[in-house]
Amino acid sequence: MSRRALITGPTAGIGNAYARELAKRGYDLTLVARDTAKMEAIATQLRSKHRIDVDVITADLTTVEGVANTVNAVTDTTKRVDLLINNAGASLAGWFGTTDIADEDRQLDLLVRAPMHLMDAAIKTMAGRGGGQIINVSSVAAFTPRGVYSAHKAWLLNISEWANVHYADVNISVMALCPGFVRTEFHQRGDMDVSGVPKWMWLKADKLVKTSLKDLEKGKSVSIPTIRYKVLSVLARYLPKGLVTRAAKRGR
Ligand SMILES: NC(=O)c1ccc[n+]([C@@H]2O[C@H](COP(=O)([O-])OP(=O)(O)OC[C@H]3O[C@@H](n4cnc5c(N)ncnc54)[C@H](OP(=O)(O)O)[C@@H]3O)[C@@H](O)[C@H]2O)c1
Repeated sequence: MSRRALITGPTAGIGNAYARELAKRGYDLTLVARDTAKMEAIATQLRSKHRIDVDVITADLTTVEGVANTVNAVTDTTKRVDLLINNAGASLAGWFGTTDIADEDRQLDLLVRAPMHLMDAAIKTMAGRGGGQIINVSSVAAFTPRGVYSAHKAWLLNISEWANVHYADVNISVMALCPGFVRTEFHQRGDMDVSGVPKWMWLKADKLVKTSLKDLEKGKSVSIPTIRYKVLSVLARYLPKGLVTRAAKRGR
């Protein structure tokens, strides 16, 4: 029987790399984002190249309606979702305390509320039918206090680590993917100046996705691609918090 993955944010970057890699592996796909035309173009290409079924859901995941429509797809028994990938994300320009609080609400909805609702729906559905897999795209920023974005990603990391253990007995794997800098549209869309980020810190989305799928099969609750970011995350976790916070002060 074919397997299906539901991916949020497949129109660019990491989500797009997941869509292409999973299509290659024979997964049927449900794609969720705001840009319908882009999703239709991706769907047409993947259907003809890999002979898979691809559904497209136009949804703004900062809205109640967008999340509810996506939850319906997660719980749809006629198109069973075996792998949920909570990937859609964006960064807000400016420091918390200087930004518009309405924008911060939307950021919270996109990075925390939407994945929470989709994970809830997936766990309830998967638990009743023998299991499933969830990847929550967090960030290495989750290991350091760096403002609102890292706080949201820390929430996603924390819940994933817990859920992977808690739901193991009903065969549900939950893994947080914690990448460092990845070349995608993310920084440009968020109006971030990344010109000072050294070359060695950049990761490629395709490679990162392959590593994360290997880690998921191993049952890991956290996937940190590359040795260099593994080392940095260990330092961030175990060095004194004050020191780490000061070192990460410039990030958001
Ligand atoms: N790039 C990095 O360095 C990096 C590092 C660590 C973690 N991450 C995380 O990785 C994930 C993917 O980021 P990326 O780098 O691949 O970014 P990206 O290239 O900018 O892609 C973001 C994706 O999210 C979708 N999206 C954004 N806002 C949305 C909304 N309101 N509703 C529905 N979909 C929405 C976009 O689709 P539409 O515009 O079509 O809606 C797009 O497909 C994010 O969660 C990000 O926080 C990125």
